[in-house]
Amino acid sequence: MQSDPIDVREMAILHQGFRRVYDEAARLVRANRSPSPGRVVFLADHIDFSLMLLNIHHEGEDELLYPKLIERAPDQALITQEVEHEHELIKAALDAASAACAAWRAQPTAETGEALAASLDELNTTAQSHLDDEEQKVVPLAAVTLTQEEWDGLNKHAAAEIPWAKRPIAFGMMLEPLSDADRAHMMRAVPAPLRMLTPLLLERPWKKYAATLRSDSENRPFQVAERD
Ligand SMILES: [Fe+2]
Ligand SMILES: [Fe+2]
Repeated sequence: MQSDPIDVREMAILHQGFRRVYDEAARLVRANRSPSPGRVVFLADHIDFSLMLLNIHHEGEDELLYPKLIERAPDQALITQEVEHEHELIKAALDAASAACAAWRAQPTAETGEALAASLDELNTTAQSHLDDEEQKVVPLAAVTLTQEEWDGLNKHAAAEIPWAKRPIAFGMMLEPLSDADRAHMMRAVPAPLRMLTPLLLERPWKKYAATLRSDSENRPFQVAERD
């Protein structure tokens, strides 16, 4: 183990987005029992994308984080493997939500909508306890076991897997719940000239997307996406 811990703040910062996206999606599905076809496509796409993001996050951890910790800190392997095993439970919940989303997309009835919302609730519950465990039991071990370069590889993996066209949305979802300090921390790696373009490249597309996402929450006729 190394004596100087590396900077591992990013994990808990990234988790903040995952901590709220599935709960919000469940509420948005329940908010309108008879959505327009445009609303179904928008919301189903949003849910599929949110599920994909956690799949990508965990693929990176499965490949680049857990095996290194188990190998290099064998005395803590039992607890690390326990938290790693939670990824399988989350994968099952992600697959169930994905199937429920496909069923709702194909036939958006009150019943398929409720089944989808319930699957998102289930995923949310499973994910919250895993995120707690990972932050408390795994991240502190990583701080003294991995090099900074190895740790930063997690972010690079995620960034490479997210399709270009969806990156502003992924960034927006991640940045929105953050405090100013956490947001500044996440933006530190972005070169200054690019940072100046953040309002144009990230904030504007995200705000438009978020307005559409949340426009239907009181069962009003859906207009924003249909105008687009
Ligand atoms: Fe994580
Ligand atoms: Fe994880």
